[in-house]
Amino acid sequence: MRISVIGCGYLGAVHAASMAKLGHEVVGIDVDDAKIADLARGKAPFFEPGLEQLLLEVQATGRLTFTTDISAAKGSKAHFICVGTPQKKGENAADMRYVDAAAAALLPYVAAGDVVVGKSTVPVGTAARLADLLHELQPQAHLAWNPEFLREGHAIKDTLHPDRFVYGVEDGNDDHPAAALLDEVYAAPLSEGTSRIVTDYATAELVKTAANSFLATKISFINAMAEVCEAAGADVTLLADSIGLDDRIGRKFLNAGIGFGGGCLPKDIRAFMARAGELGADQALSFLREVDAINMRRRTRVVELTRELCEGSLLGKRVAVLGAAFKPESDDVRDSPALSVAAQLQLQGAVVSVTDPQALGNAARRFPELNFEPDTDRCLSKADAVLLLTEWREYRELDPHAVADLVSTCRILDGRNVLDPAKWRDAGWSYRGLGRPQA
Ligand code: UGA
Repeated sequence: MRISVIGCGYLGAVHAASMAKLGHEVVGIDVDDAKIADLARGKAPFFEPGLEQLLLEVQATGRLTFTTDISAAKGSKAHFICVGTPQKKGENAADMRYVDAAAAALLPYVAAGDVVVGKSTVPVGTAARLADLLHELQPQAHLAWNPEFLREGHAIKDTLHPDRFVYGVEDGNDDHPAAALLDEVYAAPLSEGTSRIVTDYATAELVKTAANSFLATKISFINAMAEVCEAAGADVTLLADSIGLDDRIGRKFLNAGIGFGGGCLPKDIRAFMARAGELGADQALSFLREVDAINMRRRTRVVELTRELCEGSLLGKRVAVLGAAFKPESDDVRDSPALSVAAQLQLQGAVVSVTDPQALGNAARRFPELNFEPDTDRCLSKADAVLLLTEWREYRELDPHAVADLVSTCRILDGRNVLDPAKWRDAGWSYRGLGRPQA
């Protein structure tokens, strides 16, 4: 099938390459010249494991092209809208300008029988609004909402082998022509037995925001337990292991630490609250305010714990921060808890050095005032305290004896609870985790 993908960021670039992998003929379209130039020569404009290999593989087949010219969408049967919906400046609501601009640019090229497929995370009500716009121009075309659930770092696998497909179609019926077309697009993963649910527009839009809100709530729940564990001298990692064995609860997303960040969870829960307010249902989501507050409190707690580790004062203390990305296997620093902590420490007088295997370029653009050191050993050199804030494998596997030879004082704060406290303490380190007993 001929497919157009509008927006080639984390979502669109992966979607375009994955659709070509499934055998479709795909054109990826974006307004950013530099991004398109990179993609056109098989270079991923961001770090995502496996994406570059996939781009090269499918481009060699001739099935994937990239352009800044939106008229290239003409002739495609399915048009996927994959642009970002960031948080509005100074407000909780989502900024819809990219979705609106993409739709306005695309719709004149949509022909009878085509399906425009929204994948961006949007406030409920958007699909119905866009469907009206589409039908004014092309009454014979359809609009579907097909939310994306991919995780950065696992984006290709999540796109090619997702847990489920959700199709929001105008009448909510299984036999709607837009559902049939999406079945054709996803024929290969569907043949593996992937679940598929057809809904009305509003439900499909809400599935996405509800899923991210649930995940955020799970993380803040365990971080709230970490606060209680700290007060009671208990260990939140053992608590998570124990409650996680109940399969109604499950162990996934119960890792206490410095909290969630990134371009999705934080802004999605805020946009969801804002939209619920507009719909008169704000009370239903008031708990998400607490989820957000618990999450932000983690960052302050890490700064306080670092001060405690440094015997009460951060002034002039050399702090080595391991990790800048919002999570491992990503170079994304949007709302990264690690960078937020690093910046707060620096503001409070510490001399901070940040390292990360992939995210230093993005981090330096966002926080030019911080010190960045690509070499882990040099970052650790003469440190008065080490903070592990993004759990890249190379940091999880650090040898406490080797690191002890580099630092000035053996103090470590494990912001992701991924180190073995006994191993580090035995090697002479003063170890602090989050929600774990002091010694
Ligand atoms: C999230 C969702 O997991 C995806 O399903 C969704 O498609 C995506 O948002 C989106 O809306 O596009 P992502 O932002 O890539 O994916 O990252 P996650 O793996 O969800 O991690 C989010 C944050 O939570 C990270 O900062 C991570 O370190 C943190 N986290 C995760 C914890 O602090 N504890 C955990 O137990 C799990």
